[in-house]
Amino acid sequence: MNHPTILILGGTTEAAELARRLASLPVRVITSLAGRTRDPAKLAGEVRSGGFGGAEGLAGYIQAEDVTIVVDATHPFATRISPNAAKAAKLAGRPLIRLERPAWQKTEGDDWHEVASLEEAASAIPPSARVLLALGRQHIAVFSSRPGVHFVVRMIDPPETPLGLASHQLVLARPGKAEDEEAFLQDRRITHIVCRNSGGTASYAKLEAARNLKIPVILIARPPQVHTNAVGDVDAVLEFVRTSLEQPLSNPSFSGLSRESTNG
Ligand SMILES: NC(=O)c1ccc[n+]([C@@H]2O[C@H](COP(=O)([O-])OP(=O)(O)OC[C@H]3O[C@@H](n4cnc5c(N)ncnc54)[C@H](OP(=O)(O)O)[C@@H]3O)[C@@H](O)[C@H]2O)c1
Repeated sequence: MNHPTILILGGTTEAAELARRLASLPVRVITSLAGRTRDPAKLAGEVRSGGFGGAEGLAGYIQAEDVTIVVDATHPFATRISPNAAKAAKLAGRPLIRLERPAWQKTEGDDWHEVASLEEAASAIPPSARVLLALGRQHIAVFSSRPGVHFVVRMIDPPETPLGLASHQLVLARPGKAEDEEAFLQDRRITHIVCRNSGGTASYAKLEAARNLKIPVILIARPPQVHTNAVGDVDAVLEFVRTSLEQPLSNPSFSGLSRESTNG
């Protein structure tokens, strides 16, 4: 009998961890990537790349690959794929679970100014500030409306087109530990940070550094959650997968994993 197929809509560290942990279960795992990263890290299981052509395209893919469960583990700020996934799972009649890492929470000493959009973030910057823009290249253009501000833009890959900012410095680097981030902010005389509330550990160090140096952070809030079935960690997804596969479901692609076979 064919193994049940788990489709992970990925592009995040949680999605990669989920694929790795599902590999020990008798399931077929496909991770789907948008195909934007030049050199994506190797993932456990099968990998496909590129858009599906909207919700209908994704629903067609789910049916063609006989997907048993869809896991939307995309980034909290990936605003198109999540509604598409919800619609596609409904169209295809397959269960979906959303894996979304918890948002960062303000703690004592944080000087956060929460805003709802990039445009609000641009307006919230005081004149003559020196700002670390910790954002991807597709989110920079809106800050060109603030010509009196100096921006330090930190990216992993170089942008393909000019950033369009009047006064700026481009730094190609990954985020470091809190002490490295403090040195980075001090060396460049940063007065404000603009970033999104992505959550997770990989880019939290800059917020610790900002707290230690009393630097204000203009924090862009997450878009509203579109899924009703959302969990915050990989363990909860694994539990959902195990429970779902134990149910006597009408879908013939459920093979009914026994508890013994899923304990590994
Ligand atoms: N947004 C971020 O800041 C961010 C940060 C880190 C990682 N990522 C990852 O990068 C990917 C793209 O982000 P985005 O903000 O451009 O997303 P988006 O605006 O929600 O998606 C735009 C389009 O890209 C395609 N797509 C997105 N994720 C896909 C996936 N996992 N597999 C196949 N197609 C996908 C879909 O095309 P079709 O409509 O043609 O299917 C979607 O409509 C996401 O998978 C996300 O997890 C995003």
